[in-house]
Amino acid sequence: MAESNQILSQSGSVYPAPLHVVERAWISPEAYHEMHKRSVTDPEGFWGELAEKELEFFQKWDKVREWNYPNYKWFLNAKMNITHNCLDRHVRDGRGDKIAFIYNNEKNEEEKISYAQLLTRVKKMANALQNLGLQKGDRVAFYMPLTLEQIVAILACARIGVVHTIIFAGFSANALRMRCEIAEAKVVFASTSTSRRGNDIDLMHVVNEAVEGLKCVQNVIVHVRKGDSYSFKSGQLDYQTLLESGSENHEAPALDAEDPLFILYTSGTTGKPKGVLHTQAGYNLFTHFSTRVSFDLHEEDIFWCTADTGWITGHSYIVYGPLSLGVTSVIVEGAPTFPNPGSWWALVEKYKVNVFYTAPTAVRLFMKLGAEWPNKYDLSSLRILGSVGEPINPEAWEWYYEAIGRKNVAVVDTWWQTETGGHMIVTMPSMDQKPGKAGLPFFGVDADVVDRQGNPVAPNAVGFLVVRQPWPSALRTCYGEPERFNNYWMEMKGFYYPGDFATKDEDGYITILGRADDVLNVSGHRIGTAEVESALVAHESIAEAAVIGKPHPIKGESIKAFVIAMNGVQVTDQLIQEVKDSVAKELGKLAQPDEIEFVEGLPKTRSGKIMRRVLKAKEMGTELGDTSTLED
Ligand code: PRX
Repeated sequence: MAESNQILSQSGSVYPAPLHVVERAWISPEAYHEMHKRSVTDPEGFWGELAEKELEFFQKWDKVREWNYPNYKWFLNAKMNITHNCLDRHVRDGRGDKIAFIYNNEKNEEEKISYAQLLTRVKKMANALQNLGLQKGDRVAFYMPLTLEQIVAILACARIGVVHTIIFAGFSANALRMRCEIAEAKVVFASTSTSRRGNDIDLMHVVNEAVEGLKCVQNVIVHVRKGDSYSFKSGQLDYQTLLESGSENHEAPALDAEDPLFILYTSGTTGKPKGVLHTQAGYNLFTHFSTRVSFDLHEEDIFWCTADTGWITGHSYIVYGPLSLGVTSVIVEGAPTFPNPGSWWALVEKYKVNVFYTAPTAVRLFMKLGAEWPNKYDLSSLRILGSVGEPINPEAWEWYYEAIGRKNVAVVDTWWQTETGGHMIVTMPSMDQKPGKAGLPFFGVDADVVDRQGNPVAPNAVGFLVVRQPWPSALRTCYGEPERFNNYWMEMKGFYYPGDFATKDEDGYITILGRADDVLNVSGHRIGTAEVESALVAHESIAEAAVIGKPHPIKGESIKAFVIAMNGVQVTDQLIQEVKDSVAKELGKLAQPDEIEFVEGLPKTRSGKIMRRVLKAKEMGTELGDTSTLED
């Protein structure tokens, strides 16, 4: 499919950024190279200057970075408050009436909140939480859909140094309970319901089951949604009443630059989720700056990141980055194709969205539904289309560019992780775009593709993606499990190792090929094979289980489980459904296998480790590779 503005090169097609994007871009390609070089050779100078320019501190740092491998700190001894940068300073500087968020949902109910209104509510909630006895360092869990009430509560926690841990409101009661327990959450913020594809989903039965008998949780603060009624249990408080109880006066306390901001649980290679911990200043600066330059946001722009606050994308590019920058964002609660496959495009038209950020799985879903849906709407406000969460295949990239971007946008792919806090590999808006390639390293990101020994591989050869030095928003630890944090920097000695395969072309563009470990990416959600396997064997009929990811046209990967039945169990369709349902109950629907196959045995190494790679090769009909360690 050759286009007039497309150049075919040996390494695939290249689309130069449209002129109108290049002309207003904060960062030109030349500036990128110069700035990037400085950011990795003089990180302290680069980030120190940027912090002075972009953020406000109550007390300046003694040192920009301290790196005692593998640990690091940024802006040592500086005092600040991320919510001051996100709210107070904007209101003080006359941006109080600027809209911070335009909320919409499946019923097309709209709510707008200005920076001044948001600040007032955050102050009230911060006071109310302090009156409840919460103190700096305490943990508060969230199980809420994407609402303004949730954002107010998140920021209220951040303001008083209370560490929030948001659990996506699609996880099961067991998953919520486990996360509350390991974070020792004192309070849980919950909502009575959400609406998904027109169905009202009761969330309180999940929350109540999760916190039942959980000693650490002292209070559950319940946001009763419009039209819902709820009978409060002991220890449960009404969100609205609590909010109203707080005074409107609240000075943002001076927190330390390295005080914990949040813990976000993500999947690793064991059954237990990892509590990725981020801190105040470095995270603030990195998300602020990447929101500005990766999306090329300017004062009047309208930004829409379609993520949920339950994932890192929502933390960094719905809440903290855009607010710190003072952007107006659209947020939408509900499914992308409800009430019809045009509903998102109707919102782009209605709010004249300039920058739109979504996941390839959504793009592929819209692609399947056909261009006739977006074609009904005026999408000419769009200037930049972002992508995140999984590799975007060139076909989906081109559809996104043409059907949504009308060939007049920059498509900005962004590779990063829960652990990285913000964008790591990006095709910045003014750069040449190469469908399927994530792009070049972000500022401060000293990335490369190396072999097992850590030597850079030849151009276009497959290797491991690594980063040579810490950047400001790098995770500081895994909460309560420092050894798991060390693994990120120890597995490939001297580097941060994210666990992805990649290639790098002659121009330095990095392509992400997928996970190199036992982690799956289903619809952009990270799921550990071990988590699903332990959910499977929790079923009384299942003795052993092994899980693989299979390529899926929309989800990217779907889950297939190979299981061994307990002695004497009759395998029926009903049992298969029951086992699938039990995974949804154990973990959440997002981790439910699409296929379950009963087998007699599983391929294992002599030391008893399941060789998922062998199962995958067999399933896909590809080469088995080295099987010398296979037991049988
Ligand atoms: O495999 C990479 C994939 O998602 C993983 C990180 O998942 P998570 O921590 O849940 O964060 C997702 C949102 C930032 C990565 O290790 N991934 C993320 N973005 C991309 C991607 N793979 C390819 N291209 C991307 N743009």
